[in-house]
Amino acid sequence: MTDPTVLRTRGLTRRYGRDSGLVRAVDDVDLDVPAGQTLAVMGPSGCGKSTLLHLLGGLQRPTAGEVWLAGNRIDTMSERALARLRRDSLGFVFQSFHLMDELTAVENVELAALLAGRPPRRARQRALHLLDRVGLADRATHLPSALSGGQRQRVAIARALSNEPQVVLADEPTGNLDSAATLEVLRLFEDLRAAGQTLVVVTHDARIAAVADRVVAMRDGAFADDTRLAGTVYGGRR
Ligand SMILES: Nc1ncnc2c1ncn2[C@@H]1O[C@H](COP(=O)(O)OP(=O)(O)O)[C@@H](O)[C@H]1O
Ligand SMILES: [Mg+2]
Repeated sequence: MTDPTVLRTRGLTRRYGRDSGLVRAVDDVDLDVPAGQTLAVMGPSGCGKSTLLHLLGGLQRPTAGEVWLAGNRIDTMSERALARLRRDSLGFVFQSFHLMDELTAVENVELAALLAGRPPRRARQRALHLLDRVGLADRATHLPSALSGGQRQRVAIARALSNEPQVVLADEPTGNLDSAATLEVLRLFEDLRAAGQTLVVVTHDARIAAVADRVVAMRDGAFADDTRLAGTVYGGRR
């Protein structure tokens, strides 16, 4: 039987500084995210959400503990292997979108597939399909500067999906958006949840909880509360 856990941590710890300046940004976290689960990690600014997400995605190395992604232990992996795994298995969504300003929407979305060696025609087809999925088929040739914040974030979400990642990690994806744009992004996450995409969203926006299967509250680097929302089958649909 295959292990349905896509993300797993054991004793995950990341400290900064030392002595009286020591910060336990992530403090001994054990986490299991089954395939298909939408997990919201909530908590006040500075509680360690971004650090946790960076550790889960192999963007940062832990001080101690283990991180497993799709059966691979990543905290001890070489940079080269980790880069390949990130490219093939993870999609990232950031608060400030991180789109390439000089590339059009469709070029931004297809870039990851081209870097992964996909044939250009296939990459373009898939990028257009993804833009359609996020409701931006008619904005494919626009530059980011010609898009609203909500549209930019939807392009970034399409990009995150381009290599069919096992996990999408999103750090405050609605943090720079007004309420109308926030709703667009929430609706999209709801679609991803329904499609069975494993998703970890870090946020201090309570509305994100409404589209999650599970909400973890973080305080001072640790999990203070872990709630599976009513009516949710573990790892499955409501
Ligand atoms: N590079 C760093 N050097 C020192 N301290 C850091 C660094 N990055 C984060 N921290 C500290 O770690 C804690 C958690 O930060 P962070 O993960 O960014 O929290 P959040 O995303 O929840 O706001 C905070 O106290 C922050 O000041
Ligand atoms: Mg943060």
